[in-house]
Amino acid sequence: MKSNSHILFSLFFFSLTLNTIHVLSKVSNTSDSDSYILSCGSSSGGTDSDGRKWISDSKFAASSKNTAIVTAQYQDPSLPSQVPYMSARIFKSEYTYKFSVSPKKRLWIRLHFYPSTYSNLNSSDSYFSAVANGFTLLNNFSASITAKALTQAYLVKEFSLIPVQSGSLSITFTPSSKHAGSFAFVNGIEIIPMPDIFQPATLVGFSDQSVDVQNSSLQTMFRLNVGGQNIPATNDSGLTRIWYDDSPYIYGAAIGITSQADSSVSIQYSSDVPEYVAPINVYSTARSMGPSSEVNQNYNLTWVFQVDANFTYVVRFHFCEFQEAKINQRVFDIYVNNQTAQPSADVIAWAGSSGVPVYKDYATYVSESGGDEQIWVALHPSVSLKPEFYDAILNGLEIFKVNDSSGNLAGPNPEPSAMLLQAEAEAVKSFSSSGSNGHVLVIGGVVAGGAAGFALVAAIGFIVYRKIHANEMDSKTASEDMDDLNTNAAFSQLVNPSGR
Ligand SMILES: *[C@@H]1O[C@H](CO)[C@@H](O)[C@H](O)[C@H]1NC(C)=O
Ligand SMILES: *[C@@H]1O[C@H](CO)[C@@H](O)[C@H](O)[C@H]1NC(C)=O
Ligand SMILES: *[C@@H]1O[C@H](CO)[C@@H](O)[C@H](O)[C@H]1NC(C)=O
Ligand SMILES: *[C@@H]1O[C@H](CO)[C@@H](O)[C@H](O)[C@H]1NC(C)=O
Ligand SMILES: *[C@@H]1O[C@H](CO)[C@@H](O)[C@H](O)[C@H]1NC(C)=O
Ligand SMILES: *[C@@H]1O[C@H](CO)[C@@H](O)[C@H](O)[C@H]1NC(C)=O
Ligand SMILES: *[C@@H]1O[C@H](CO)[C@@H](O)[C@H](O)[C@H]1NC(C)=O
Ligand SMILES: *[C@@H]1O[C@H](CO)[C@@H](O)[C@H](O)[C@H]1NC(C)=O
Ligand SMILES: *[C@@H]1O[C@H](CO)[C@@H](O)[C@H](O)[C@H]1NC(C)=O
Repeated sequence: MKSNSHILFSLFFFSLTLNTIHVLSKVSNTSDSDSYILSCGSSSGGTDSDGRKWISDSKFAASSKNTAIVTAQYQDPSLPSQVPYMSARIFKSEYTYKFSVSPKKRLWIRLHFYPSTYSNLNSSDSYFSAVANGFTLLNNFSASITAKALTQAYLVKEFSLIPVQSGSLSITFTPSSKHAGSFAFVNGIEIIPMPDIFQPATLVGFSDQSVDVQNSSLQTMFRLNVGGQNIPATNDSGLTRIWYDDSPYIYGAAIGITSQADSSVSIQYSSDVPEYVAPINVYSTARSMGPSSEVNQNYNLTWVFQVDANFTYVVRFHFCEFQEAKINQRVFDIYVNNQTAQPSADVIAWAGSSGVPVYKDYATYVSESGGDEQIWVALHPSVSLKPEFYDAILNGLEIFKVNDSSGNLAGPNPEPSAMLLQAEAEAVKSFSSSGSNGHVLVIGGVVAGGAAGFALVAAIGFIVYRKIHANEMDSKTASEDMDDLNTNAAFSQLVNPSGR
C-alpha cells in the first residue's frame, strides 16, 4: 500500500494550484496590473497557500441583481487552500463581468470551481454556460457531474483567448433554462496576458491545409514534461503553466527509457524558441525508445489521450537533443492518430546542434466515434535513411483544443466511466475483505492494460488511500495532506485526461 501510494505521489506531487504572477512579469514583461486574480464572492479577497494574492470580484461585476455572495458549507480536505474555493458568487440569471485588458495580447483565462453546497443551494442543480467575448467556454456545464466523474473536489479550466481588440473583455455566466431551478456559480477567475505562442498548424494527412490557430481561441487539454517530473506553475518559464509527467499516458508495456541532460549541456533558447515556450526542465529531460535497435524497430512508443468529439486539436511536440550531436544519428517517424504527421524527424537537422530546443505543431480533427474519442501519438525509428541509431526522442507534449467554426470550445459533461465505477466498488470490497491484497492484484492487472489501466489503478490507489487515512486525520502531517490533494488534482489528468 505504502509503496503504491508512493508511486502515485511521486508522479503527482503538486496540485493544480496557482502561483505568483511575478513569475509572469519576469519573462513576458507584463506588469501585475494587467492581470486579474479574482476570488469570487469574497468581500475582501485573500492569500492562497502559495502566497498568491486574490482580490474581491465585486468591482468587476456589471450589475448586482440576481447574484449572491455565498460561502461553502463544507471544506473538502483536498482543497489546496480556502482562497478562492470557499467563497463563490452565485448567479440566478445571466450575469456579466467586465474587464479592461490589453488590446494586443492573448489572454489566459482560468476558471475555478468548487461544486459544494452553498446557502442550501445544491450544486447538483447547477447547469450553466460561460461565454468570453463571443467564445463559448462552457455550455450546459455541471461542475458537480464533472468533479464526480474525475473524483476530484475542485476544477480548473484553462483557455487561451485571442487578443481582445476593443480592450473590453466580458465574461458572461448564464444558468441553463433546460433545468428547473438551475443557477450558475464561480469561485475564482484569472485573466493573465500572455505572448502569442501559437502558429498555423499543418493538418495531418492534408499537407496543403493548415488550421488558423492564431485567429482561434484554445483550451488546454494536456501539457506533459515527457520523460521528466511534474513542473509546478511556480517553476514554469513565466506563463504559470503546470507540466505533468507523461507516464500515465503511455500505451502498452513498452515505455522506452527516460534520460536527463547532464550539467555540461546548457539549453540555448533563441528568438524562434524563446524561453517562455517551455521551461528548461522540459527540454533537459526526454523519453527515448531504448538501446536495442531490434526492439525499437518492432514497437511504437505510443501515448493515448481522451478528448471531446467534433473538434480540431493542435498537438505540439517539444524536442531538444542532448545525447546526439550530428545529423542522421537518430531519425524517426511521428504518427498522430495512426497517420504520418512527420516522416524522418531529425532533431539535430531542425535545431542545428545539441542543446537547442525546437517544437513542431500538427493539427488533427477528431470526429465522433461512439463516445470514446482519442488522440494517439506514436514514434517509430525511420529506417529508410539508415541512421546511426534506430531510436526516437521526445521532450514535451501539449494538446490544445481549437474553437470550432462557431467559436465554441465546450464539450459535453463527462460520464463517470463504467470502469471507474466498477473499480470503486471493487476497491472498497477488496479493501474491507482482504486489506491491501486486492490493491496489489489490480496493480498487476494494470501493466497489461496500458494507459486506461493506469487511470484505473490511480483511482483505486486513491480510494484505498483515502479509506485508510480517513481514520488517521488527526495524526496526519501537513505533507500527507499535500499528498492527498495532489493525488486529487492528478485525477483531472488521469481519469478524465481532458480535464473537463
Ligand atoms: C519591458 O517593458 C518596459 C516598459 O514597457 C521596456 O522599457 C523594457 O525594455 C521591456 N523589457 C523587455 C525585456 O522586453
Ligand atoms: C444534492 O443533490 C443530489 C442529487 O439530487 C443529492 O444526491 C445530494 O444528496 C444533495 N446534496 C445535499 C447536500 O443535499
Ligand atoms: C486572422 O483574421 C484576419 C481577418 O479576419 C486576417 O486578416 C488574418 O490574416 C488572420 N490571421 C491569420 C494568421 O490567419
Ligand atoms: C522549482 O524551482 C526551485 C528553484 O529553482 C527548485 O529549488 C525546485 O526544486 C523546483 N521544483 C520543482 C518541483 O521542479
Ligand atoms: C458530432 O457531430 C456529429 C455530426 O454533425 C453529430 O451527429 C454529433 O452529435 C456530434 N457530437 C457531439 C458530441 O457533439
Ligand atoms: C490506432 O490504431 C490502433 C491499432 O493499431 C487502434 O486501436 C486505435 O483505435 C487507432 N487510433 C485511432 C485514433 O484511430
Ligand atoms: C506504428 O504505428 C503506425 C501508425 O499507426 C502503424 O502503421 C505501424 O504498424 C506501427 N508499427 C508498429 C511496429 O507497431
Ligand atoms: C475560431 O473562432 C473564430 C471566431 O469565431 C473563427 O474566426 C475561427 O475560424 C475559428 N477557428 C476555427 C478553427 O474554426
Ligand atoms: C446537460 O447535461 C446533462 C448531464 O450531462 C445531460 O443529461 C443533458 O442532456 C444536457 N442537456 C443538454 C440540453 O445538452
